[in-house]
Amino acid sequence: MKNIDSKSHVRGESVYLDDIPLVEGTLFACVFDSPVAHGKLKSVDTTEAQTSEGVFRVITAKDLIGENQIGGIVPDEPLLADGEVHFQGMPIVIVVVTSETLAHKAAKKITADIEPLEVVTDPRVAAADGDLIVPPKKFVLGDAASAFANCAHVFEGKTEQNGQEHLYIETQGAYAVPTENGGLKVYSSTQGPTAVQRAVCRVTGLAMHQVEVDVQRLGGGFGGKEDQANAWAGICAVATQLTKRPVKYALHRMEDMRMTGKRHPYSSDYKIGLDRDLKIVAYEATFYQNAGASCDLSPPVLERTLFHCTNSYYIPNVTATAYSCRTNLPPNTAFRGFGGPQGMFVIESAIAHAAEKLNVAASEIQRRNLIDDGDEFPYGQKAESDAITSWTQAEEKYDFATLQKEAVEFNASSRYFKKGVAMMPVCFGISFTKTPMNQARSLVHVYTDGSVAVSTGAVEMGQGVNTKMAQVAARMFGLEIDSVKVHTTNTLRIANTSPTAASAAADLNGKATQLACETIRKRLLEVALPLVEAANIDDLSLADGFVYRSGERTSLAWAPLVMEAHLKRVNLSEHSHYATPGIGFDWSIAKGHPFAYHVYGTAVVGVTVDCLRGRYEVDYVKCCHDFGTSMNTAVDLGQIEGGIVQGLGWMTMEEVVYDDDGKLRSNALSTYKVPDIYSIPAEIAVLPLETTRENMAIFNSKAVGEPPLMYGIGAYFAIRNAVKAYSDCSPAFDLPFTPEKVLMNLYNSDLVDMKAINS
Ligand code: MTE
Ligand code: MOS
Repeated sequence: MKNIDSKSHVRGESVYLDDIPLVEGTLFACVFDSPVAHGKLKSVDTTEAQTSEGVFRVITAKDLIGENQIGGIVPDEPLLADGEVHFQGMPIVIVVVTSETLAHKAAKKITADIEPLEVVTDPRVAAADGDLIVPPKKFVLGDAASAFANCAHVFEGKTEQNGQEHLYIETQGAYAVPTENGGLKVYSSTQGPTAVQRAVCRVTGLAMHQVEVDVQRLGGGFGGKEDQANAWAGICAVATQLTKRPVKYALHRMEDMRMTGKRHPYSSDYKIGLDRDLKIVAYEATFYQNAGASCDLSPPVLERTLFHCTNSYYIPNVTATAYSCRTNLPPNTAFRGFGGPQGMFVIESAIAHAAEKLNVAASEIQRRNLIDDGDEFPYGQKAESDAITSWTQAEEKYDFATLQKEAVEFNASSRYFKKGVAMMPVCFGISFTKTPMNQARSLVHVYTDGSVAVSTGAVEMGQGVNTKMAQVAARMFGLEIDSVKVHTTNTLRIANTSPTAASAAADLNGKATQLACETIRKRLLEVALPLVEAANIDDLSLADGFVYRSGERTSLAWAPLVMEAHLKRVNLSEHSHYATPGIGFDWSIAKGHPFAYHVYGTAVVGVTVDCLRGRYEVDYVKCCHDFGTSMNTAVDLGQIEGGIVQGLGWMTMEEVVYDDDGKLRSNALSTYKVPDIYSIPAEIAVLPLETTRENMAIFNSKAVGEPPLMYGIGAYFAIRNAVKAYSDCSPAFDLPFTPEKVLMNLYNSDLVDMKAINS
């Protein structure tokens, strides 16, 4: 089944924030943001801006009626800089102007006197200074320190991982409209309507019941709008409160790139110990997360790095420590995988390091250490593992042995082109690791014409969650999908939402929708009993728009049944709540059962490197992926393909560059390269994992949003293998593996200093 939005998307009729018809009198906001990364804000001069054409109002921190604070986890993020600036791009002043163009002109007329302070961009420097966002986090299983002493082989190393720009097609933005008695309605491009509502209330001083947040859909979020939509909504809300006029702010691309945080870069140390049979006996990892200037979502991202630090492997002795380091970059934030990919890259690097030194294929070490049923993750949960099944199915179906052999043969006969192959297993936990967030609500109305309206806390951002919600209701009522309409995500209809994140939106909101539909379904079947002369509703079912009795279609159709129920004064609406059972985590001992289930899969990745130019192509990513029983294969295949390409981009070409002054150099699409149609693999193959295991997913259709991104990690190791086939080198585990870096490794060149090139 197609995504229900596909027609309106293709026709350009789908409504995004910038398509909302404006209310008469709407003003436009723009911010003056800090030109330096760290400094004392001594004064701001807005005189010229005040008299600039169209300017209605200029707002600084002191004008705020509420609190100048939007930090959700740690209160360390002012809406507008006050006294100090902490990163280049930090909002200082809001101008509210009659047109968007004039708003940008006015903002340019503002100047600030800032006394520069030391700029830190390196997380290890911040950690050495003790500048941490939260205390360090640690996972311990067994006793790694003493296990190393008995290992046949021990290897130590370091990895560097880059950030990643979300590059959602729709930039950040919000539109606030005043409602009566001082209330606000805020349209926001956010993954977290309730997070926006809270932030708006904080900066305006309003209570939550006075603020309505409405989200139609996003042109992509990828984690970048889980927390970071709050600032723009807060800015519009404050401006509306102070001017009593509707205020809109949709960021220009370069503003968005400059002012918002990205995937967290990490610098990490690892130590891996193996026995003679290549079993990993001990693993130690230390992660330095570059959090940027304020907390944002850095702590939970850091935690997920720890949760996934052993990926799909069972390692009996693990010590993993993680530091969230405060630097003078824009606050880094959630990005598809939420810290998991960063953890996985480090263990995969450690394995590649060991394989290189022991002169075996990394896949040999990977295969021998896959986690099995009952094995314990470092956080205490026991695995119900499909790691081995997915590995075996991928290995067999794609004939890994032959792919490897072909690469070796090709490399023997080709001088300047080399092929590399790598396996990439993935194990990703599904549920928010903060247990209270694993709840959702759904509101279902059946109207008297038989049509159905569904509202949930899930936000549609291209991942097809609305299609899945409509499918749930259609299936429960035995209707065609056209009979169901999924409405905007709105805090008046659905309160206290968890953000659409952690790949859990379809499960949580789908289960809530299922519960609501089930309640209404039962009520309707009670009404149907006398009409179809049945004794028990268990004998009845709903399918193809009719009531069935003992599997036989009756003459009673859906719409007349609904009308009959209404006339009998039966409630045709339901608001249901779902909370994932059986999960929990105790941070005081860093053990528990945080995940409802894990998604497993294994990919084979093949590349060809042009060893004269350093360029490469990804020839294929072939995976065996655990869908469960997919509810919508078209949507899920789209998620897998999109995730893989986004992962490849992170590994190979997406290079977020800040200079030592904390200025974003890769600040436009001319300097920041993302995969285009030419850089996607020639082949992406997806084999659904065959498993009969029960799970807690909606209709057994497992979460699919984030896990496939991590197959992309295999590309780094495939390229590395190809480079090593050409030259006797040992490329550093330093992302992204751009053609420049490949070239330097091919020719063992340290003549070129990348830092010098970038600055
Ligand atoms: N797919 C599209 N097209 N656009 C997006 O913004 N976000 C990803 C993933 N897939 C995203 C996407 C991220 S980061 C998450 S957490 C999940 O979708 C969230 O949606 P789900 O819970 O419905 O899978
Ligand atoms: Mo996704 S990073 O959990 O929004």
